[in-house]
Amino acid sequence: MTAAIDPSLDLFAEIDRLRKERNAVILAHYYQDPDIQDIADYLGDSLELAKRARDTKADVILFCGVHFMAETAKILNPGKVVVLPDLEAGCSLADACPADQLRAWKQKHPDHFVVMYINCAAATKAESDLICTSSNAEKMIRSIPEDRPILFGPDKNLGAFLSKKLGRKMDFWPGTCMVHETFSAQKIAALKAKHPDAKFIAHPECEDHVLALADYVGSTSKLLEFVQKDPGQKFIVGTEINILHTMHKAVPSKQLIAVPYEDRTAACQGCNACPHMKRNTLEKIYLALRDLQPRIEMDESMRLRALKPLQRMLELS
Ligand code: 13P
Ligand code: SF4
Repeated sequence: MTAAIDPSLDLFAEIDRLRKERNAVILAHYYQDPDIQDIADYLGDSLELAKRARDTKADVILFCGVHFMAETAKILNPGKVVVLPDLEAGCSLADACPADQLRAWKQKHPDHFVVMYINCAAATKAESDLICTSSNAEKMIRSIPEDRPILFGPDKNLGAFLSKKLGRKMDFWPGTCMVHETFSAQKIAALKAKHPDAKFIAHPECEDHVLALADYVGSTSKLLEFVQKDPGQKFIVGTEINILHTMHKAVPSKQLIAVPYEDRTAACQGCNACPHMKRNTLEKIYLALRDLQPRIEMDESMRLRALKPLQRMLELS
């Protein structure tokens, strides 16, 4: 619950004032609501935001994204205050693979190299050999000697995509993104038939049968770059709905169609909006800057163990 705020407050002006007063940087993922994207100092995908967090000179990092992203900022900046407007902003992928379960999996495969998608908790990162994001995953996998078997988690869809593309056998953890897994291949095929001049572009968190329909597969930033560089005028965008805000601004004359998803019975069980990302609001951002709460805190020995595979990724990126 958000504490009561004077309704006459101009939240945009207040956030701006507090950001200066606190020497804070506001980092926002493309899946945040349009207003939040517009007030951010830096917008980006998971990799770009991790790099922004690493390089910032600000005293405070206000992370408009989900918990694992803010934790990543803290792993890289133990001395800075890192605030997340809503600590409950989680991720189905991060939830799927707690550290103790990864440890048990590793024990069954002691000779394997462990690559974890950045969408996991700091404690899970601490059990890994290397972190990757959807932007650099191919490069990360290629950096591992061919004869070394790989455990990949927590996203089985990204893992399967990489394994197929790189011809590399891997064992996958059975996690999925609750948003991308709802996209309907049947409805996408129907939409493609209705708009034969549209290109279907998709995030690798989508299921294999959805990716099979795609003209291009890439991370959030790569999809944005694709619509800017490709001569096509019409795109069906297979990722979280809010990326369309920045895409529309980048290519105002092009037609962008949000991906259709499965209709499920309960409200928002099938949806192209991430409910975790949507927990952040302007009100909560204002309160987080005002009170410098809620903060991300972390045990130092765990942080140091999580830093190793993360730093390895950043060096290789
Ligand atoms: P990227 O930011 O790497 O595109 O990943 C998308 C995502 O689902 C983040 O939670
Ligand atoms: Fe996690 Fe999917 Fe939401 Fe990204 S979009 S934070 S992967 S649940």
